[in-house]
Amino acid sequence: MADIDKIKEIVDRIHDTQNITKEELEILLSLNEEDAEYLTTKAREVRESVYGKDVYIRGLIEFTNYCKNDCLYCGIRRSNKNADRYRLSLEDIMNCCETGYELGFRTFVLQGGEDAYYNEDRVCEVVKTIRDKYPDCAITLSIGEWPKESYEKFYKAGANRYLLRHETADSCHYAKLHPEEMSFDNRIQCLKDLKEIGFQVGCGFMVGSPYQSVDTLFKDLQWIKELQPHMVGIGPFISQQDTPFAGKESGTLEMTLRLLSIIRLIHPRVLLPSTTALGTIHPLGREKGILAGGNVVMPNLSPTSVRKKYALYDNKICTGDEAAECRYCLQERMESIGYHVVTDRGDSKL
Ligand code: 5AD
Ligand code: FES
Repeated sequence: MADIDKIKEIVDRIHDTQNITKEELEILLSLNEEDAEYLTTKAREVRESVYGKDVYIRGLIEFTNYCKNDCLYCGIRRSNKNADRYRLSLEDIMNCCETGYELGFRTFVLQGGEDAYYNEDRVCEVVKTIRDKYPDCAITLSIGEWPKESYEKFYKAGANRYLLRHETADSCHYAKLHPEEMSFDNRIQCLKDLKEIGFQVGCGFMVGSPYQSVDTLFKDLQWIKELQPHMVGIGPFISQQDTPFAGKESGTLEMTLRLLSIIRLIHPRVLLPSTTALGTIHPLGREKGILAGGNVVMPNLSPTSVRKKYALYDNKICTGDEAAECRYCLQERMESIGYHVVTDRGDSKL
């Protein structure tokens, strides 16, 4: 049984200094749910002081599941011969945007594997076409590692934001999650480049990924302090049956919520999504994520015909639902906990 006064003291100190020590992290991560309540409440207070009861929505368009990479955890890795590959055409993507715009989305997130078909020119074409048609919308790219020059072109074409999870800030841990040809240093360099160019940048990691430890998590938090990203995407690792990590244990709801709260305290104004993966491991995962300090949800806008194919992990939710169903489902879910979805661009208040 942890000493409640001690926990309060730790949480208040983290709140006041926006910093955490490794020892404090270890204590907070080992608390049971009841003892962690003060942390959750504090994180929620901070979240509400910056964003009120608003929840930002982003329309996620998973436009290709071809990928040249072979990340050990990921269901669309190139070695997965069972993955049913697809890519959306420019026209398909524009149709998603049109549906999304009508549903009130003012941010489109284009996510995909590192697909050779979608080279620099084709990505720029997609971005420009969306930019011309929707000048009032934010365009977010989430398409992996590119040379700085390519990122610059994407930015010039009209993209505003870029999501690239760093996955882990510990290079040894990184090497255990990725094939040899992928480089931790390059990942970090990409994030620095993106920030320098002027993108609103999101980094992030999976909670409970194989070989993760308090040490690696502490490094993740330090990296977040250093990079000062606009957004941090975290969700539980969930094993995918056709990957080398098939039998590995998934991350937990509690651990993910704990980390969401801690990130909210050390980086109060950050955009913090309550992810689909969190909704996958618990029926009320996304609601709980918002109540623990999250302020963004990212419903899927991809056509139902391809949803199941973007299977980064097993049992992913919403694979049979239409865009409008997800949109209104999330609205109701947020209202059920006293929050409301807002339909503007939802820029970070950094
Ligand atoms: N479980 C949870 N998240 C995963 N991702 C990839 N594979 C998995 C998995 N098995 C996450 C990675 C990637 C993001 C697009 O999805 O963190 O950056
Ligand atoms: Fe492409 Fe994981 S294999 S992101």
